[in-house]
Amino acid sequence: MATHSSSSPILCASFNQDYSCFVIGTRDGFRIFDTNTGRLCYERVLGAFIIVEMLFSSSLLAIVGAGEQPSLSPRRLCLFNTTTGAALRELNFLTSILAIRMNRKRLIVILQDKAYVYDLNSLTILDTIDTVPNIKGLCAFSPCLDACYLALPASTTKGSALLYNVMDHHLHCEIEAHRAPLAAMVLSSNGMYIATASEQGTMVRVYVVSDATKSFSFRRGSYPSTIYSLSFGPSKQLPDILAASSSSGSVHLFTLGFAAHQSRSRRPSGFLGSIMPGAVTEALDPADHHVLHNAVPAGVKSYAIIRKVENVTDTSTSEVLACRAIMSIITYNGYFQEYNISIDAQNELSWTLGREFNLLNVKALSS
Ligand SMILES: *[C@@H]1O[C@H](CO)[C@@H](O)[C@H](O)[C@H]1NC(C)=O
Ligand SMILES: *[C@@H]1O[C@H](CO)[C@@H](O)[C@H](O)[C@H]1NC(C)=O
Ligand SMILES: *[C@@H]1O[C@H](CO)[C@@H](O)[C@H](O)[C@H]1NC(C)=O
Repeated sequence: MATHSSSSPILCASFNQDYSCFVIGTRDGFRIFDTNTGRLCYERVLGAFIIVEMLFSSSLLAIVGAGEQPSLSPRRLCLFNTTTGAALRELNFLTSILAIRMNRKRLIVILQDKAYVYDLNSLTILDTIDTVPNIKGLCAFSPCLDACYLALPASTTKGSALLYNVMDHHLHCEIEAHRAPLAAMVLSSNGMYIATASEQGTMVRVYVVSDATKSFSFRRGSYPSTIYSLSFGPSKQLPDILAASSSSGSVHLFTLGFAAHQSRSRRPSGFLGSIMPGAVTEALDPADHHVLHNAVPAGVKSYAIIRKVENVTDTSTSEVLACRAIMSIITYNGYFQEYNISIDAQNELSWTLGREFNLLNVKALSS
């Protein structure tokens, strides 16, 4: 999430791997917030930042300058310790850094035509992947060490992605997801699913990564809008929810409980599986798709995540009465919103704005 827009006060925004914190980069510096309480936890006024990524709730940040100050080059990655307030290491590249991803073992650096895979602790390069021109720095990375996949665009004319296993250093499969080039993709935190959206289409597709044959499609509306963010909910197991924010101002929720019953791992091991668009086997029931109309201002970039999902059960019969979720949204005009969402047994959606505040006005609590 590092797209620069001259008019928005927020240059970049990212949630950490378990959604417990989020970081925003502004023209003045960067700020870390606690997602649960909305508290401003950390702030540095150092200049403009175009990428700020946090590793879980650790003291490690990966930061890249926006190039507005000579000392903050967009070609330099700085690993920053928030406890000491000092740089740990710096890595310089020949071209601008477009995206950074991390988990506890790997650091991924995305440039326009390359992806570098580093060992996070030693910072030795483990892999250099040549990519098609990737000017938006599109990528998806799973923080899970058991299914540690990196997805990169495979084409500039079609919506296909290559999935690499960056623990074992091999190409896992190619997914031909859409006819038009990819606009967004995300891997679930357990590495089990990948969701994709194209630049032109109205479909969001979900694939089971281990099984290179299954796919599911959601039609998110009749009119194409730009997908600003795609993210899976926090569940380690199903059911999970996929959230997509878009330029129309709507946020779409896709419930994925269905896939619990799908058979997995039909792909022979060691074989480079390929998913063809024709293999889209099941269009999902529209019942699995809910829309929050005008949840965010239309045309303003936003980043929506589902932070919490829980069942409400009848204590005497243990029957599931509803599924409740909390959705957190960062809008690049400077706001944080939190919606309480409930989907009842009749599949009726209800939602209320639980909280909203300006991310730029919040003052750090004096400690
Ligand atoms: C940051 O500094 C603190 C204090 O010296 C240290 O305990 C911590 O391990 C450091 N974090 C990283 C990511 O190196
Ligand atoms: C919620 O209920 C569904 C069945 O309706 C079940 O499969 C799922 O495991 C439950 N989730 C949680 C988090 O308890
Ligand atoms: C939203 O959910 C949170 C946590 O479940 C709860 O504390 C809060 O009161 C709810 N707010 C609204 C407006 O329903």
